[in-house]
Amino acid sequence: MNVSEAVATRRSIRAFLDTPVDRATLERILDKARMAPSGCNFQPWKATVLTGKPLRALQQKMLASVPQDPIEYSWSDPEQSDKHLKRLQQTGASMYGAMGITRQDEESRRRFSEANIYSYGAPVLLLCYFERFMGPPQWSDVGMWLQTIMLLAREEGLDTCAQEWMAFYARLIKEHIGVDDETDILFCGIAIGHRDPDAPINNFERDRVPLSEQIVFDGF
Ligand SMILES: Cc1cc2nc3c(=O)[nH]c(=O)nc-3n(C[C@H](O)[C@H](O)[C@H](O)COP(=O)(O)O)c2cc1C
Repeated sequence: MNVSEAVATRRSIRAFLDTPVDRATLERILDKARMAPSGCNFQPWKATVLTGKPLRALQQKMLASVPQDPIEYSWSDPEQSDKHLKRLQQTGASMYGAMGITRQDEESRRRFSEANIYSYGAPVLLLCYFERFMGPPQWSDVGMWLQTIMLLAREEGLDTCAQEWMAFYARLIKEHIGVDDETDILFCGIAIGHRDPDAPINNFERDRVPLSEQIVFDGF
């Protein structure tokens, strides 16, 4: 698989098969991802990877708990801009539309959102965190590392879904994996596994802004 194929075939998978993923494959991916770039070569990312019993135990704890208030960090600030709110709404419409869930059916939407607890059935969950003193440039570095992982996962025939939703349970998660809440912020999870190729939720059309709206070329 070349890079273009990895980019084109990566999508957020929200229905996984229960096929397990072995540690050697994950180590190969994470070892290669160490070469992701970062400003000043700080390499700010850290992660814990769970499967099997420890993962199920965490999911049970989340299920028996309520989302923390306030959340670990706000991910929804761009909603204040009409342009970005529309993008979110379009994504929601495509996603819920694929499952035949209407806009009015808030109960089904809520239940689907709670499927985040189970990482949509993925057998592996990578939990990404880093020191709280990291600023926006380092958050961006972590994003590059995560995308590197998600593309390398494609090369291994694996699929992923990033999950900032985990920020609702950040303290509980950190306690579970033995990470100090005072020093470290939990950014997100990455669900890892094999996609259910037939699930409509894995097959809806995804919108993207045209290049002409995002990029300025000059001097060509
Ligand atoms: C950092 C990050 C966090 C995300 N968190 C969630 C999440 O908690 N739950 C979820 O279902 N999707 C989550 N997503 C997936 C986005 O909704 C998805 O990337 C976007 O809609 C574009 O779709 P695509 O990934 O299929 O191309 C997240 C994506 C990123 C990059």
